[in-house]
Amino acid sequence: MKFTINPEKCTSCGICAEECPAEAISRKDESSLYTIYQPFCIRCSHCGIICPADAVICDAGDFSPWEPPEINQQDLLSFLQGKRSIRHYSEKPVSRDVLETLLFTGSVTSTASNRQEWEAVVVTGEKVRELSRDVMTFYQGIYKMARNPLFRFILAFTEAKRYVRNPGTFRKFRRFIERFEEGGDPVFFNAPAAVVLHAHKRHKQWGLTDCVLAGAAMMYGAQSFGLGSCMIGFAQVVLNFKSGLREKYGIGKKNTVHSVFTLGYSSRPYRKLPKRKPIPAQFIE
Ligand SMILES: Cc1cc2nc3c(=O)[nH]c(=O)nc-3n(C[C@H](O)[C@H](O)[C@H](O)COP(=O)(O)O)c2cc1C
Repeated sequence: MKFTINPEKCTSCGICAEECPAEAISRKDESSLYTIYQPFCIRCSHCGIICPADAVICDAGDFSPWEPPEINQQDLLSFLQGKRSIRHYSEKPVSRDVLETLLFTGSVTSTASNRQEWEAVVVTGEKVRELSRDVMTFYQGIYKMARNPLFRFILAFTEAKRYVRNPGTFRKFRRFIERFEEGGDPVFFNAPAAVVLHAHKRHKQWGLTDCVLAGAAMMYGAQSFGLGSCMIGFAQVVLNFKSGLREKYGIGKKNTVHSVFTLGYSSRPYRKLPKRKPIPAQFIE
């Protein structure tokens, strides 16, 4: 994508240069016109969407008009508060149209330096069950090893010590495995769809933040379609641990998975709000 300034329309007001976060817009002197220095441009569009003279040209087409929609603050809070992690789904599939709209919803969020380097894998139907089995195979292996006292003894000297030293954690883990072996899906809860957001390792600094922001927008967007969702850290851990599994699901070996979540229609209504503690905050004034 390339942005340029139409010299016939530009009034030299300079608002684009002030707006540009990348210091890409300047002019030589008071009598010359503003130009965009392409190597600095991060293609964020701010120049084009602020220009009062419509003088910025984007080779990908015109900028869509936009007016802030009227949103009632109380309704918005209620909508956000109503976002639950859904673990019981009806069998109704999520349509391709809705999935594509949600991907678009994710794509409108901010990314560091406007890099937009995230990628998505959308898994649906039986493929979600297969991914769930792949994830559980990994945990079954860990469980098998964790039952060996010698292995547990060694683990007690590693980062995993808080898991092996706590008998409650081990019991919970055993129940997790049993639920799978009894035919359940303790990873994706039989959801009809799941989304994996990932970014290349070279995008180390901000890939996680970019994916989490896009994922959050997708999950709230899903809610506006009456869809439930749930973040699945259990799957994220395994996908990041097993490069072969990433490869199987079309995720580059050099990519890190930053967000995994389910999508589907909840089979259970919630009629009350959960309790939450306030964010401990300081005001520095
Ligand atoms: C980073 C992250 C990872 C999570 N991983 C899982 C998971 O693997 N399985 C699960 O059932 N819930 C998972 N959750 C959901 C949380 O348990 C849930 O958000 C929390 O219990 C609060 O419930 P609520 O989302 O309905 O408000 C995860 C949430 C986050 C933010």
